[in-house]
Formats: sequence, structure tokens, C-alpha cells
Amino acid sequence: MTPPFLVLGIETSCDETAAAVVRLGADGRGHVRSSVVASQVAIHAPFGGVVPEVAARAHVELVEPVARQALSEAGVSLDEIAGVAATAGPGLIGAVMVGLSFAKGLALARGLPLIAVNHLEGHAVSARLDAEVDYPFLLLLVSGGHCQLLEVAGIGACRRLGSTIDDAAGEAFDKIAKTLGLPYPGGPALERLAEGGDADRFPLPRALLGRRDCDFSFSGLKTAAARVAQGLTTDLERRDLAAAVQAAIARQLSERTARAMQVYAAQNAAQHRRFVVAGGVAANRAVRASLEAVATAHGFSFAAPALKYCTDNAAMIALAGAERLAAGLTSGLDAVARPRWPLDEAAALAAPTHVPGRKGAKA
Ligand code: KG4
Ligand code: ZN
Repeated sequence: MTPPFLVLGIETSCDETAAAVVRLGADGRGHVRSSVVASQVAIHAPFGGVVPEVAARAHVELVEPVARQALSEAGVSLDEIAGVAATAGPGLIGAVMVGLSFAKGLALARGLPLIAVNHLEGHAVSARLDAEVDYPFLLLLVSGGHCQLLEVAGIGACRRLGSTIDDAAGEAFDKIAKTLGLPYPGGPALERLAEGGDADRFPLPRALLGRRDCDFSFSGLKTAAARVAQGLTTDLERRDLAAAVQAAIARQLSERTARAMQVYAAQNAAQHRRFVVAGGVAANRAVRASLEAVATAHGFSFAAPALKYCTDNAAMIALAGAERLAAGLTSGLDAVARPRWPLDEAAALAAPTHVPGRKGAKA
């Protein structure tokens, strides 16, 4: 389909029920007309993490009103929508099924094309929302379930350069935050606690330093931080440990990204050097600042989504869906929900690096 057109996006892969309307312009740029996110944080907080069955049930109750709100805030009716995009994985399977089934119902009832979107592809395009970020780019995708470096040549064309061999960066933030007694979700809470802290007070391990690949590892940091946390007695000490952890995560992300920039530049000598960071952890200011410095040092431009598009949202799903619709990449109504769905399937088969984690199976 040729733009301009509007796409309705639905996201229910974890603990956020979200819907959005995005307009893809004739110039290929995505403009957000509405983006509604109903967070389930309060529902899951008493459990200290996301409970899959509870999440799925909450999505069932929320998905229709949230979709209605997205249409009304955009000031459009379903008659003006050209396609319905929904996250089809990876994520909590029951949760993914709710949004995907809802989108299938809408597509069938209105005779609209359905676009089954990989949640990670949503994060990959999120820096392009309301911003001029062109393909191709080197992407660091850092969220609660994922930590990987990818070469993104265009929609549906991602090549993995490296990924975590144990925990994701957001998972490390969340788990360490828990040992510091902070509420779920831990990342933002740890960032607040770290403010003004002395990052050098507690030395923490530096994993994979100097390795030639572009992989990550956070489990050693998690264990070391938990051990230090046990012996702490004062709030000042907790603040300094939070600062040290945040600095250690930012440092590893930056060091591994610097390595990927060398690889990327060597393989794409003639191409423009663009770097994009996306995913929930991209909302962390220390992480952003550290990555921006690395990009500058390596001659890469730096882009990150607006803070509200770093964490899970449906605008990124709508944009990925719109770009797919423009490229003729639509799905049948038999599209399946997938708990695991790597962006670069060939690389994942050749070198599987992920193990199941807190949020279920990863990509
Ligand atoms: O992208 P996202 O919303 O969900 C996934 O697809 O995983 O990312 C959520 C993750 C959580 O681990 C959360 O703690 C982390 O992103 N996060 C942060 C910050 N905001 C969210 N981590 C560190 N600092 C933040 N400000
Ligand atoms: Zn996400």
C-alpha cells in the first residue's frame, strides 16, 4: 500500500496494554497521532514482578477501551484506518495472544490488512517516531528481556552482531534493585536512588572487557552487587552502590557498543554511520549520556527515542506495522503468537545465546 495512511497499533506483550494511531507520510516518516499506555505496574507490584496469568487477564479487560481511546485521541474513526498492527511476540504468550486476537477480530470485521509485528522490531523503529532517523543504523536494543546489538538495514532486515549470554541489562537493573529493597520496576527506582551517589566507592567486576565479539554478560555484576548489598547498613551506602551499579551497566553497554561500532564501520565502510539506542533501559540518563559519548568518539551520529517511546508502547508497533504495510509485508489471519521470536532468526539458530528468564522465554 502506498502512503500516506493511518495504522492502528496494539501492544500487549508484557505488563503494558497499549494502543496507538500512527500516520505514515508519503515521505516514509511516522507521525504519532495518539499513543495510549495503560500500565499494570500497580497490579503486579505486590508480587514484585510480572505475573503472566494476571497480565493476560488485565489485557482482556483493558485492550478494547484502550484501543477506543487511541482512536478518539487521534480524532479518527475505524473507517480512516488502513491496517491493524499487533505485537505477535516475543513475550508472555497469554498476554501476546490477547492483543493479537483482538487485532485479528478488528481486521476481519473491517476487512483490513493485519500486520503481525515482532515486538523487537517495534523497539528497533521507535527512534523513527516523530523524528528523522534514516536506515541503515547500528542498534543497541536494551530492555527488560533483551540486550543485543543489531545492524538494521531497513524494515524486516536486521542482522545480529551480538547479544547477552545471560541476563538482559534491564533484568540486571531490576534484580539488583530488588536486592537494594527497591520497588518493581527496579530500573527507574535505581536511577533515582543513584542520584548524587559515589560510583567509585564499591568496585564491581567488568565482564567481557576487550573481547573481540559484541556480546554482553551481567550475571557476575548481579552476584557481586547482591553480595555488597547484604553488608550495607546506611542509606548513603545504598545510594553509592546504586550509582556504582548504574555506572557499571552503562560502562559495559558502552564498551561493547564501541566494539560493535568498529565491526560495523569495517563492514559498511561506505555507509553513513548512525547509532540508535532503544528499549526501556534507553530511558536511563547515565546510559544515554555514556552511549552518546561513545558514538561521538567513533564518528557515529546518536539517536534515541523520546523517553515515552523507550519503554513499551504501541506507537512503535503501529510504525513497524505501517512500514511493513508500505512494503507489502502483511500477515494472514492465521498469524501465530510466539513466545520466542528472534529478529535475526538465522543468527539465533546458528548461535543461540539466550536462556529463559524472569519474563519468560527470550528472543
Ligand atoms: O522495553 P521495556 O519497557 O520492556 C521490555 O520489552 O522488556 O523495558 C523495561 C525495562 C525494565 O527492566 C526496566 O527496569 C528498564 O527497562 N528501565 C530502566 C529505566 N526505565 C526502564 N532501567 C534503568 N533506568 C531507567 N530509567
Ligand atoms: Zn519492550
